[in-house]
Amino acid sequence: MQYDLNYFKIILDLFFHFLFKILIIITVLAIESSCDETAASVCADGRILSNVIATQKIHEQFGGVVPELASRAHMKNIVPTVEKALINAGCSLSQIDAFAFTHAPGLIGALLVGAQFTKSLALAFDKPIIAVNHLQAHVLANLIDDPKPAFPFLCLTVSGGHTQIVVCNSTSDMRVIGKTIDDAAGEAFDKSAKLLGLPYPGGPLIDQYAKLGDPLSYKFPEPKIEGLDFSFSGVKTSILYFLQNAGRNTIYKEDFKATNEERLAFIEENLPDICASIQFRLVSILLNKLKKAAVETGIKNICLAGGVSANSSLRKEFMLLGEKEGWKTFIPAFEYCTDNAAMIAISGYYKFLDKDFAEMDITPVARAEW
Ligand code: KG4
Ligand code: ZN
Repeated sequence: MQYDLNYFKIILDLFFHFLFKILIIITVLAIESSCDETAASVCADGRILSNVIATQKIHEQFGGVVPELASRAHMKNIVPTVEKALINAGCSLSQIDAFAFTHAPGLIGALLVGAQFTKSLALAFDKPIIAVNHLQAHVLANLIDDPKPAFPFLCLTVSGGHTQIVVCNSTSDMRVIGKTIDDAAGEAFDKSAKLLGLPYPGGPLIDQYAKLGDPLSYKFPEPKIEGLDFSFSGVKTSILYFLQNAGRNTIYKEDFKATNEERLAFIEENLPDICASIQFRLVSILLNKLKKAAVETGIKNICLAGGVSANSSLRKEFMLLGEKEGWKTFIPAFEYCTDNAAMIAISGYYKFLDKDFAEMDITPVARAEW
């Protein structure tokens, strides 16, 4: 029986191999390992055939990602994740034309696992490697499903580590026109959640509680930052003082502290309203800058990207703003917003078309602009 199954698998493999070669399908296997998700995806001619993500639960107990533990978990997860991506795609390693990986930015140990694994596969199968910038990949996640935005488009990328407004002229020509000068949007969500005693990552929990609350209950200030840059540290400090005062005043005085019991009771009684009010302000900061960027550039194809674009209020308000401003709006499917390898695969596919391959001695970079 085992013999029959193996025989069947070989025939199936050969069938797909020749089918792919006859149709000249470009097949890319991509690996994403920049932070706490080990992910793999197969993309054939720009179509995502599989998208597998192994989320590392180990960090929850530490209230944030522990780099060393992330690297170890990637080592453990990478083989089964890639195997599953290949099985789900119905293809084998011999059918892959190029191996793509996240090159930057990210946790260096975590990136190294993905990079070295990719290089090993490429060496074994004598195929090229493709180095992908994680933030550019978030932007290009908008090209996975139809309808796709026409070039040029603007993209608001909002993730745990970055907040950017990007002008995307083509798959290889992207320019950052606005960025955060301190915390990222996801960080602002996560740090606010931490102040409320919620576990990491708190962004999705704030979203969840906010659905039951009134966004106009409490007022947090909108920072006045010139140009298209963002700042979230001021609003974070105002939330800290507000909670230390157990909501007793809204002028965020440091010297008017409530007792710890009062603070905890206030949070417990008003959690949905506090979350809704925090979310309201974070979303308004993001969308006001995006609107400014659209007016300044005259671009009307506008996209969202990154983990925070999974936020229900941001998605809703973005669509409403788009209707008001006459934009064509695009948001990647939920599974392509948070970290995933499908966005690395689609980026790898376009780089393959441009023959933009990396040398084998390339090494990952923790911090990277472009
Ligand atoms: O893009 P991503 O998955 O990873 C990075 O590249 O950083 O983004 C993760 C960030 C985290 O800060 C997480 O709290 C936030 O996205 N996030 C959300 C939601 N889902 C994920 N923030 C607010 N509301 C959500 N529904
Ligand atoms: Zn990301």
